[in-house]
Amino acid sequence: MRKMLIVGGAAAVALISGNVMADAKATYDTACAACHGQGVAGAPKLGDAAAWTERVAQGMDVMVDHAIKGYQGKEGYMPPKGGFANLSDDEVKAAVEYMVENSK
Ligand code: HEC
Repeated sequence: MRKMLIVGGAAAVALISGNVMADAKATYDTACAACHGQGVAGAPKLGDAAAWTERVAQGMDVMVDHAIKGYQGKEGYMPPKGGFANLSDDEVKAAVEYMVENSK
């Protein structure tokens, strides 16, 4: 039952969000993967659920704020926007969401 409902809406959602998701992955690949792909310098790795649980618990707003402004954490230093000042706040937010979605 649940599946049928989802299938109905999925086509429409895919049309609308397809670009956004592709952009989020592209942003991640260009600006974030260098550290977050392999866990360089203490960065929580994409796909490493354990590394993200505590971070997700502080809330999406805090994580996005940290990603945009940068911060010094316990594990290392997260540079503002990963060092890519040309990214918009929305692009950074989408990349954070992309990482969290793929690290459950
Ligand atoms: C130069 C390496 C580097 C790059 C590039 C980088 N990060 Fe990070 N990031 C880190 C490190 C190190 C931490 C962990 C800091 C800590 O908590 O000690 C971190 C933590 C984070 C966190 C967790 C924040 C929190 O509150 O726990 C998010 C979200 C994040 N990065 C998003 C991004 C995004 C989005 C990008 C790409 C736009 C990116 N990072 C690029 C090094 C990097």
